[in-house]
Amino acid sequence: MAKKITTIGVLTSGGDAPGMNAATRAVVRCALANGLKVKGIYRGYAGLLEEDIQDLTSRSVSDSIQKGGTILYTARCPEFKTTEGQDKGAEICKKHGIDGLVVIGGDGSFQGALRLSERGVNTIGLPGTIDLDIACTEYTIGFDTAVNTAMESIDKVRDTSTSHERCSIIEVMGRNAGHIALWCGIANGAEDILLPENYDYNEQRLIDEIITRKKNGKKHTIIINAEGIGDSYNMAKRIESATGVETRATVIGHIQRGGSPTAKDRVYASAMGVKAVELLLEGKTNRVVAYKAGEFVDYDIAEALNMQKTLNPYLMNVFPKLNS
Ligand code: ADP
Ligand code: F6P
Repeated sequence: MAKKITTIGVLTSGGDAPGMNAATRAVVRCALANGLKVKGIYRGYAGLLEEDIQDLTSRSVSDSIQKGGTILYTARCPEFKTTEGQDKGAEICKKHGIDGLVVIGGDGSFQGALRLSERGVNTIGLPGTIDLDIACTEYTIGFDTAVNTAMESIDKVRDTSTSHERCSIIEVMGRNAGHIALWCGIANGAEDILLPENYDYNEQRLIDEIITRKKNGKKHTIIINAEGIGDSYNMAKRIESATGVETRATVIGHIQRGGSPTAKDRVYASAMGVKAVELLLEGKTNRVVAYKAGEFVDYDIAEALNMQKTLNPYLMNVFPKLNS
């Protein structure tokens, strides 16, 4: 039988995401309600290696559910990719009595969680990233807020783009994944979406379409460009000179990673935090919490990391039907 855990550690790692605080709060409160101790590990794996660890009480997470960012801070820690770093991290967990660990982050952070599980620390991953690029889950903490923030910003660009009868290339985040771009493309009524998953780099097609739309009376063109394609400023210059239509580029950037989480991010992140504690109480380790077909479920971390994520094919088919 698995040894009963007594102390849970919680950390946030990789890019921050709105809703991480709701997840942290849920882990802390649910663990305390079950008679466990909770330790906050600050600045992700970097803070673990530097023993930046403090006891957390229910009050430590007061007034946090509505806040963007992460009250535990976050970092990227190259040292944790080495076996020496991972050995040291596991030793530090043992030294502080941390026998259950909740890691809130993306795929990279889950690689670290897997290594700690292999070293005897019961570890559960929660998907925290605005990019929605974790294959085992239909929901990641922060995506909903990020898409809504980007959507509002794009609406604003659209106002000025229409007034000046311009073309706007608007770049959204997502690293190598196009989920944010696809959602914004549909939500903002864009004329085109450039996705890393299927973009053919045929700029002549974009140019021809801008010219045709102008002839047909369209006042402006909004093109959503995913970060994975990038090059928005140069693209704008090339398009302007080929079409004669004034073209501007806007890179939304980190604005879309901040801000108060939406209700969905607060609620789902809270549910995932509770699920992580429940799994640890059941003696489970090396699991990722996921949302699939309306339920909160869990997968083996290695299995989850091997899954391939694609863009929602139905949504990809919907977009071209909206632009007649
Ligand atoms: P995300 O978790 O959002 O995908 P990163 O890919 O930057 O973000 O990973 C966050 C951190 O997770 C890294 O800085 C590193 O400390 C840890 N990490 C990433 N990849 C590995 C790996 N292969 N092995 C161990 N730890 C890793
Ligand atoms: O993973 C979240 C994310 O915001 C990506 O969309 C983006 O590529 C990356 O992080 C940016 O990272 P940084 O904040 O380190 O520049």
